[in-house]
Order: sequence, then structure tokens, then C-alpha cells
Amino acid sequence: MALLGLLVLSLFHVSLVGSHTSSKHAPSPPQPAGEQSPEGSDNLSFPWSRLRLPRYIIPLHYDLHLHPNLTSLSFTGTVQIQIDVQNNTNWVVLHSKGLKISKATILDQNLTHLSDKVLPVLHHPSHEQIGIFSPRVLSSGRKYFLCIEFGAELAEGFYGFYKSTYRTSTGETRTLASTHFEPTSARMAFPCFDEPNFKANFTVRIKRNPEFISLSNMPIVKTVEVGDGLLEDQFDVSVKMSTYLVAFVVCDFKSVTATTSSGVQVSIYASPEKWQQTSYALEVAVKMLDFYDEYFNIHYPLPKQDLIAIPDFESGAMENWGLTTYRETSLLYDPLTSSISDKLWITMVIGHELAHQWFGNLVTMEWWNDIWLNEGFARYMEYISVEATYPDLKVEEYLLHTCFAAVGSDSLNSSRPISSPAENPTQIKQMFDTASYDKGACVLHMLRHFLTDDVFQRGIVQYLRKYSYKNALNQDLWDSLANTCSEEDFISGKHCYSSSQASKNAYLFAGEHLDLTAMMNTWILQKGIPLVTVTRKGPHLLLRQDRFLRTVLPSDPLWSSLQKGFLWHIPLTYKTDASNTIHRHLMTTQTDSIHIGEEVSWVKVNTDMTGYYVVHYEDGGWDKMTKLLRQNHTALSYKDRTQLIHNAFQLVTAGHLSLDKGLDLIGYLQLETHNVPLLQGLGSLQAFYHMIEKRNEIDVTRKLRMHILRFFRAVIDQQTWSDGGSVSERRLRSELLSLACHLDDPPCLERARQSFKHWLQSKGTLNLPTDVAETVFSVGAQEDHGWASLLHTYNISSSAALKGKILFALTCSRDTNKLHRLLELGLEGKVIRSQDLSSLIFMVARNPQGHRLAWNFVKKNWDTLVQRFQLGSFCIRSIIIGTTGQFSSPEELAEVQLFFESIKEQASQLRAAQVALDNVQKNVRWFQRNLETLRNWLNQQM
Ligand code: BES
Ligand code: ZN
Repeated sequence: MALLGLLVLSLFHVSLVGSHTSSKHAPSPPQPAGEQSPEGSDNLSFPWSRLRLPRYIIPLHYDLHLHPNLTSLSFTGTVQIQIDVQNNTNWVVLHSKGLKISKATILDQNLTHLSDKVLPVLHHPSHEQIGIFSPRVLSSGRKYFLCIEFGAELAEGFYGFYKSTYRTSTGETRTLASTHFEPTSARMAFPCFDEPNFKANFTVRIKRNPEFISLSNMPIVKTVEVGDGLLEDQFDVSVKMSTYLVAFVVCDFKSVTATTSSGVQVSIYASPEKWQQTSYALEVAVKMLDFYDEYFNIHYPLPKQDLIAIPDFESGAMENWGLTTYRETSLLYDPLTSSISDKLWITMVIGHELAHQWFGNLVTMEWWNDIWLNEGFARYMEYISVEATYPDLKVEEYLLHTCFAAVGSDSLNSSRPISSPAENPTQIKQMFDTASYDKGACVLHMLRHFLTDDVFQRGIVQYLRKYSYKNALNQDLWDSLANTCSEEDFISGKHCYSSSQASKNAYLFAGEHLDLTAMMNTWILQKGIPLVTVTRKGPHLLLRQDRFLRTVLPSDPLWSSLQKGFLWHIPLTYKTDASNTIHRHLMTTQTDSIHIGEEVSWVKVNTDMTGYYVVHYEDGGWDKMTKLLRQNHTALSYKDRTQLIHNAFQLVTAGHLSLDKGLDLIGYLQLETHNVPLLQGLGSLQAFYHMIEKRNEIDVTRKLRMHILRFFRAVIDQQTWSDGGSVSERRLRSELLSLACHLDDPPCLERARQSFKHWLQSKGTLNLPTDVAETVFSVGAQEDHGWASLLHTYNISSSAALKGKILFALTCSRDTNKLHRLLELGLEGKVIRSQDLSSLIFMVARNPQGHRLAWNFVKKNWDTLVQRFQLGSFCIRSIIIGTTGQFSSPEELAEVQLFFESIKEQASQLRAAQVALDNVQKNVRWFQRNLETLRNWLNQQM
């Protein structure tokens, strides 16, 4: 074996043919090169020019051996892949990134080597592929074993097989190794066919020192001694799954375990000293798995589910099958320091990742262009599952915000259809955005409401059953939801729904045959969101739909070209004062009208925002709404009131409604007792305030501050500095007190200072009420001593929840030197971990004193940031949008443009660059249009 030596042909092939981006028509396989090896392997050129792998070699089973060394921070491994060859060929092309391949061989079914020589391995680094040449033809219809030996350093960032560390209370640093593969990083850990539709079974073995444990997707079947004092864990063979869901961890963590009703072992793993923070997650995970088992009517197919808190984790969590990985703040609940929002977040994240065990893992999208089939569903299931398992958390109060987030980006021209092409890794990473998650979820909400809960549930159950262990397209979902039961389904008595039954519910709107695909295509394949303008004309309501854009007015020359070709099939709903009925109407044309009757005095369209569209009430329609809210706001549900507020300010930004009308609409809020519309109104004012305080508009800023405090005085004064009350009350308190102190409200500041003094006196051992701790810290951080004490506590605390609150507080300092120091600490990545750098930058940029600092920091350290987080990652996007999001002057716009110009090559690949520009443009227009109106309006209020 040793004689075979190391053979790596690194090859930069120059004459690549074929498209890099399209693989609809796979080219024919390379011609067999005969039975003999070519003269010299350096004559070979890379056989494949496309980004996607050839389809005629199908992986069936991976036997993966890994040996990570946590001292040398490297790993070696071997993989034996059973492949099914469907065309004669001499080449096997698969993915590998950054791996040193030391040997490759191919065996036939009888485990006989095809060649007595080591096989040539060619590399195509820019496509992250390797090609293995077999001198003997691999014959169509036969199966072979491809064996590869490889090794690499443990990765430094957050992808592939990467290293993470944590510090014990005695100051010792411990190392662990963990994986994150989605979307395209399995290839960094082992050579593989790294595309979601190459599903295979995996058998994993991991060598480790006895002081560590190892985890993977499946339970361990046996552990054997393998010499050198090492143990090898062998995991059970997995179900058929995509490579991006494979995971393994080697660490010294501790766990707690419980069992679900159907006997699935659920364990929560965390570093030994955080072990006490695991019990809430355990309770949630067990409940959620039981819930999904029932809701999907398909049992979770693995014998165990491990949830593990990884100290260095770039995103929020990852749904690896049977071994979901989490950022510490997404899994660990510390009763002493976690707030009610932290608790809700943990519950929703677990609900999300466990939903993926069905949506994503069991049934996977065919390709990354439809990642919404994973993420949109998982986001939506967060609401369904948490509402069912933890009704007290009132998760339904947040659903509107998911839709609002979608509206926010979808109303800019830079948005994209939910389903969009994505070929290379940078494009694929960028698919994990608001369109896939939030618009996906919001459109599903509309669809569920349209079809009724029952039909929706049955339809998705059918979809999950039909495509289990397979991949699916959008069309497969529509077909399942439209319910065409196969004969076999009827005979076998499987969960199924007949089209005649479905029509009774689903077609309430249409009243006739409805083409669900045609309807859904208008939401999934078309970008943007419709604006439905309604006008009252006698007994009729006239309707018109346009594309809603916040940056372009009808008077703009660009308007008509931006509108062209846009049309949606909108399931409209509305309520009137005449009855409690929710009326329905499917609008499929640009203009339409409905009969509502003469006697009706008001109409509210898009009941509870179950539809994904913005509504504009023309011809005094908004005045009517304002009047209604003032006279009898409870005539509308809290969701309707919230949505009206949101709509109104969207229309203000777009220039369809004047700012003073919007401000008048929220004038009723002094009567409002529900926290959701209250926070919506407050949030709108706060958004203006944050933008204005960063401009040199001292007078308007001061007046707006005074107005907000005066207007909300009564409700602010009602708040206690405690953790008591319902979830809604706690959340309202937390937001209100945070805003009041931010606006320098003297009673708020005084109370916070007092609490902070007690905290200091206790040397940080006093536990402040969790929901107001962040506010208390942010007031305390204004003094040098307070800031330094907070940084010290940050450094030694073992509660990720507490650290999050302190970090926020530290970024509220008005001292730019301190803010600068924080950014440097984040870049260094020791005291403040790299995983927190993007949110740190975002928080510094929020602070008027840190605003320019953060932007300059990003410009200066751009290359380092891209290297650390990868282009297209969520972190890079949030850094770009976070630092530019509050720019609002033409000079700032020009500055952002100039920067993108200077990094043109990268910026051209980044959607976020376009989003950032659109966003600043929108702010610039907002200022030009509204500043004077706001000034006058505020003067009138004084
Ligand atoms: N599948 C994603 C993780 C992921 C994110 C992979 C981005 C690749 C790129 C996971 O299910 C997820 O959506 N995580 C969220 C948190 C969740 C609660 C929404 C995240 O990491 O932000
Ligand atoms: Zn997800």
C-alpha cells in the first residue's frame, strides 16, 4: 500500500466546454477510453465541464471512516461508495473541496480491484469536483465500489468539518469538532456526490480518544478498541438521505435523555457546565416530535434524535437528520437569565428543525432553486407546532411579522421569485433568504386558509407520503394539495383525499373548478407582492391590482416597465360592518368588482392578513378606517388593526398615502390594549426615529422623542420592572421600557440606574428580571465603570442568554472608542466569538454614535469578513444590509454605490448589494417626501 504513494493531479483545465450554469440537458458521458490505461495520466484532462454532476453514476451507499485528531486539528478518512453505473464510462466525477486525496481505487461487485495501479485523480478546484479515471470501463448496469483515502485540516470557519472551542470555569480551553454541510459543504469533509437528489444510505465509523464521545445521525451499534488507545464507534446504517444532512460531532459534552410516546430517544447535549440549561429543550423536543408524528401521520423514522449546542455556530440551527445542531442561544434555556423572548425563540427553533425532519429530510426539494419547499414549510410549521404544543406562548401573534418581513423585501425591485435559479455555491447560499423563509411561509399561510386547515393538512400528508426518501418539485406539492388520489392509495387505505371532497372546502372561493397550479405559480414563480386598491362605488367595491413597489411611484417614468406582465390570482377576503361573515372572492384579473350592498359603511379587506397582498383604500377610504378605529376599534380583530397600521406606513413609504394620514390612523392607539397593534404602531414611529436620529435634524428628533413619550406615557407608566404576567404582557413591557430608556425618559433612566447599581453591588451575582435586564444593562453601560464591569461579566459568564443581553448593552455606549474596541474584539474572535461578529456590527450600526464607525469598519475589513463568512452567507448579507440600512441621504447613497463599485466582482454576485442600494434609495425618498410633513405634524402636536 505504502508503495502506491500519493497521487494527486491538480489540473487547471483550460478548454472547458458546455454551460457552467445550466444542466437541463446533461451531455453524453465521456467515451470509454478502451481497456488500456492511456500512456501517462498527465495526458488526461478533466472530463466534465458542468457544475452539476453527471446523472449516470448514482451513489447507493457510503461507508465512511473518519479519524479526527483534536490535538493536531486535522482529520483523515476513507470512504467506500457503492455506485450504480448507468452508462459505460471510464470516469467517476464527484465533489471534493480542500481535501488531500491520497489514494483512489475501484472494486467490482466481488470486491476485486479493477486495476492493480492506483487510479489517477484529477481536480477541478473551481467546480469543487474530482474525476477518478478507471483504465477499465465501468459498465452500464453494474455496481462498483469507489474507495478513496483523504485527509484535511479541521476547517477554521463554520462549514464542513470544523473546529470549535469552549472555556471551562477553571479557564481551560477544550476543543471539539463538528459539522455543518448545508448547502454545499459535505464535500469539505469527504468526497461525495454532494447534490440533494443523490440520496443514499450512510454507515459512519469514527475513531476517537476515550475521553471524548462521538455522535452522528444514527445511534452507535458498537464501539471497538482499535489500538493506540483509540476507540472506534460504529453507527447504524442511515435511512436514504441527501449528503447535506450527514453530521458528526466529536466532543466531551454531557447529555440528558427522555423518550417520546413512540419510543424515540431524545437527548440534549451541551458542554459539561451548561448541562443544567438543557431541560427546557428536552421537554420541547419530546413534545414536538410527538406532535409532528401525529400531525404528519408519519412516524419519525429514526430511533433517536440528538440536539446539540455547538459553541461556534454561524447560523441559528441545522436540521441534520437525527442530530440537529444549534447555536447555544437557540437551544439552552437558563431560567435565571433567559427572557420570555429567549424562551419563545428556543421553542420556535426546535419546532423549525424538527419540522425539517419531515419537510426537507424525508422529502427534499429536487434542487436548491426550490429550497423554499424546505425552509418555507419549516418556518410555517414553527407556528403550527408551537401553537399546538405551547399555546401560552401565543406564537400566532408573531405570524404577521413573518409576513411583514416578506413584504419589506418583496416591495423592492431587488426581490426575487420564491423559486429562482441557483447553480454555484454562492448563488445557492443566497437562497436562504426572506423569500424562501418568510414569503414561503406567508404564502403557505394564505394557501392553508384558502384550502381550509383540514385539506391543507391532508394534502401535505399525502405529499410527504408519496415523496418519502425522494425529491420533489413544486408541481408535486400542488398535485398533492389538489388531491388526485391514486387508486393504490384508495385500496391501501392510506391517508388520502378525493377531489370531490376537497372541492367542497377548497373551492369555497372559486365556486368552480380551480387550477391550483396556475394560482400558485403566480406566487412562487413571480417576484413581488400585489397592491390591491379598493374604491367604493355605490353598492360595489371596485378592485384593481398592481405590483406594489416602495421605491417607484406611478408618476415615475420607470413605473410602467416595472408593472408590465405582473398579475396574481389573489384569494381576497373582506369583512364589512353588515355581518360577521368573512367574504371571499378570487381575483384573477387586473380590475374587478364585487357587490357589497348599499347599506355597508366600512369594508376591511384581507381579513387577519390571511392573504399576501397590501391594500390601499382610495377616495377617503383611509379616513373611514381612522374614524372606525377611533370610535370602535374592537370592531376589527387585533390582527386586522395591526395589518392596517402596517399597510398604512408601507403606503406612506411608497408615496401612496401622506405621512400625516398614517400618523392620524395610529392616533387611536391610546385606546389600544392589545400588545400586537400597540407594538406595531410604536415600531413604526421608532423606525422613523432611528433613521432621523442619525441625521442632523436635532429639532425633529427631539420633538419626535417627546411626542412618543407623551403619547405612550400612560402605558409606559403602567409597566413594572419584573418578570410577572402573561407572555404578551412580558413582551410589551420589555419593548416599552427599552424604548423609553432609549428615548432618555427620566423615570425610566432613574429606575434602570437604580437596578444597575444593585447589580454592580452584587458583583454581577444578582439576577435582574430577565425581560428588562437588557435595558438595565444598556443604561448602566453609559458609565465607564458600568461598561467595564459588563465586559468583565461577558467574558466569564456561562450563560449565552446573559452574554447576548450584555453584548447588546455594550453596543449602546455613546463612547466611540468603546464601540471601536468592541468591533476589534469581534474581529479578533476571542472574547467576542466570530459567530457574533455580524450581529455585533449590526448592533453598533444601530447606535447613532456607531453608525459611521460600523460602516467604515466593514469597508476596511471587507476581505477578512468575506474570508471568514464566505460570500453569499447570511452573515455577509446581514453585515451589508445592517450597516447601510439606515443611510438616508443622497451622499450616503453615493458612498454605498462607490464601495460596491470598488468590490465590483463580488458585489455583482451578491443580491444583498442590490437590496442595500434599493433600501437606501427608499430611505432617501422617504426623507425627501416626508421630513417636512413630519416636522409640521409634530409642531401641531406640541
Ligand atoms: N437549514 C437551515 C440552516 C441553514 C441556514 C443552512 C443557512 C444553510 C444556510 C436551518 O433549518 C435554519 O433555517 N436555520 C435558521 C434558524 C431557524 C430557526 C429559522 C438559521 O440558521 O437562521
Ligand atoms: Zn430551516
